[in-house]
Amino acid sequence: MTILGIESSCDETAAAVYTKEGLKSNIIASQSVHRRYGGVVPELASRAHHKTIWGTVRQALDTANVSIKEIDAIAVTQGPGLMGALLVGICFAKGMSVARNIPLIGVNHMDAHIYANFIDENPEYPFVSLTVSGGHTQLVLVEGPFNQKVLGRTRDDAAGEAFDKIGKILGLPYPAGPVIDEKSKTGDPEFHRFPQALLNEGFEFSFSGLKTSVLYYLEEKDNRESFLEEHLNDICASVSEAITEVLVKKLRKAVEETGVQSMLLAGGVSANSMLREKAKSLAAELGIKLHIPKMAYCTDNAAMIAVTGYMMAQQGMYSDLNMKPFANFEA
Ligand code: KG4
Ligand code: ZN
Repeated sequence: MTILGIESSCDETAAAVYTKEGLKSNIIASQSVHRRYGGVVPELASRAHHKTIWGTVRQALDTANVSIKEIDAIAVTQGPGLMGALLVGICFAKGMSVARNIPLIGVNHMDAHIYANFIDENPEYPFVSLTVSGGHTQLVLVEGPFNQKVLGRTRDDAAGEAFDKIGKILGLPYPAGPVIDEKSKTGDPEFHRFPQALLNEGFEFSFSGLKTSVLYYLEEKDNRESFLEEHLNDICASVSEAITEVLVKKLRKAVEETGVQSMLLAGGVSANSMLREKAKSLAAELGIKLHIPKMAYCTDNAAMIAVTGYMMAQQGMYSDLNMKPFANFEA
């Protein structure tokens, strides 16, 4: 079984080939057009996907040394994501499905972040996944392939969104998550204690208060510019501390309450070094197994779509040509 995976939910146009021998190629065309706007502009994302999708797929096939005729099924991100952006990938995949007479597999992007952990490793069920990306933050109990239950999610901003919005306040470029991560490495995480919300309230998260508190904290400073110049890395480290502490405390609670013997990190924010370190310490303390995707499979990519498509095909989870994109979970 040879699967072509396509991802176009946000600002990366990506294609990958996955077979029973593993991942054969993983190509990403990142869209730089959004940088000057400090966030993703949906219409520009759709146009850029449209422009690059065929070239990206071509490159994924060439790198894998696979001809289009050898593809057995095509997996594509169905949602959540930007509607116009999703449509580009889905229409391409449908066209190819009809032209080649091969099945279509609509993949949930959040599932794919979780199953990215299966590219290089073989996590044992049941496990708890802390899925943290730019658009979503959730704790999921996974009892078997695609047998999963969301234990809790964010009530407002996602963890990555919090990094990005706070980065904007601090004058950092978009996406600010990786920049804050880098600066945190030479900052003091105890420089200022920012609020850690909802620690006692089950598995739900809230990060919008943190953003406001960073804003107020800076407004109180007499000379904001020189204060920031001197302490930017300390503030970044303190913000990273507040975000990762909440994430890891809730992850601990989820593991303890479910009694699972393995846990994993998934999504763009799982690239965060402080979160990775804290999760490693937690796993060592609890004596359970921890899986974290390789850096390249943390942020959006098509390898995760292809591997999830492969696993869905094994379960007979195919879509038909009526498959529609969905922007969020409720749609
Ligand atoms: O999973 P992803 O690529 O896209 C979504 O599905 O949303 O996640 C992107 C998010 C962005 O908010 C970005 O700032 C964040 O992941 N991110 C990080 C790091 N690398 C990416 N946040 C903190 N530390 C990082 N190293
Ligand atoms: Zn994502």
